[in-house]
Amino acid sequence: MESSPENNPENRIQSGPDGSLFVRAPAKINLFLHITGRRDDGYHFLESLFSFTKKGDLIRFLPSETLEFSTSGPFSEDLPAENPDSNLVMKAARALAEHAGVSHGALIELEKNLPVASGLGGGSADAAATLIGLNALWKTNLNGEELATLAAGLGADVPACLSSGSQIVRGIGEMLEHVNLPWSAGIVIINPGRAVSTPEVFDGFGAFRDKRGLPPFDVTITDLDKVVSDISMLDVLTSNSLQDPAVQVCPEIMEVERFLRLNTQNELVRMSGSGASVFALYHDKAAAESVARRAREFNPDWWVMADSIGG
Ligand code: C5P
Repeated sequence: MESSPENNPENRIQSGPDGSLFVRAPAKINLFLHITGRRDDGYHFLESLFSFTKKGDLIRFLPSETLEFSTSGPFSEDLPAENPDSNLVMKAARALAEHAGVSHGALIELEKNLPVASGLGGGSADAAATLIGLNALWKTNLNGEELATLAAGLGADVPACLSSGSQIVRGIGEMLEHVNLPWSAGIVIINPGRAVSTPEVFDGFGAFRDKRGLPPFDVTITDLDKVVSDISMLDVLTSNSLQDPAVQVCPEIMEVERFLRLNTQNELVRMSGSGASVFALYHDKAAAESVARRAREFNPDWWVMADSIGG
């Protein structure tokens, strides 16, 4: 694993004046997502290029005897309220405490800025940020490999979210290869406001291919350097294989895609993860911000974020 500043989890930690720590949990974007097989237990093998925005959720950690969790932010209401222990943040905290033999707790405050179940890996990013934050707060000094093992037990996307650098992800999400993207871009991400169930979309993938008479799985990419070399190559040579099954579950994805295609030249427009968020890439962040303003006017019910990616 390369150790560029972006890839080093410790560079995401900021200290507050009161002994608290803040860790960013940026949004994950699947620049492409191919499904290459299916395991006997139902999980799918994938080949995907993950990249991360700058903005996202933010988690604050404070020393405490007991383990406590609270949420704020525009999407905190969408988190399952009946059982906060079911949140991946708490699962990550308990997994780390058990592994490292930590008996005291922490106050964990999650600012939920990313929509829930939106294909942006928010829950996975929060879990990864919790491992990073508590490993520092509790001074448990787990190395990257140990953190990655704990992360893999929390969810398929969590290992990749430990690093906020771009990476090719294989296996079911545990095999990571860092990639230096030779380009940077502005990005607009739009979510139509409907949570989409990841298992439902994965389940629909096989049935969709079957119905269309398509081969059951995508083939593995042989020339990765060419694929990542520029955005037009990504556009032509790759796709998100979950997009068609996700549209079956959430047709609003098509409306967002249409808006973004009408507001780009020839740039990449694609759904991220299992949806329903759709992104478009632009020359720079200013161009992205201008389209984001138009999107908010066009449909005030959409969640719209402009940021930058790559480089
Ligand atoms: O691991 P995680 O909880 O994020 O996965 C959610 C669901 O997505 C799984 O239960 C499975 O249905 C599907 N999935 C899959 N193959 C993957 C990742 C997720 O089938 N590689």
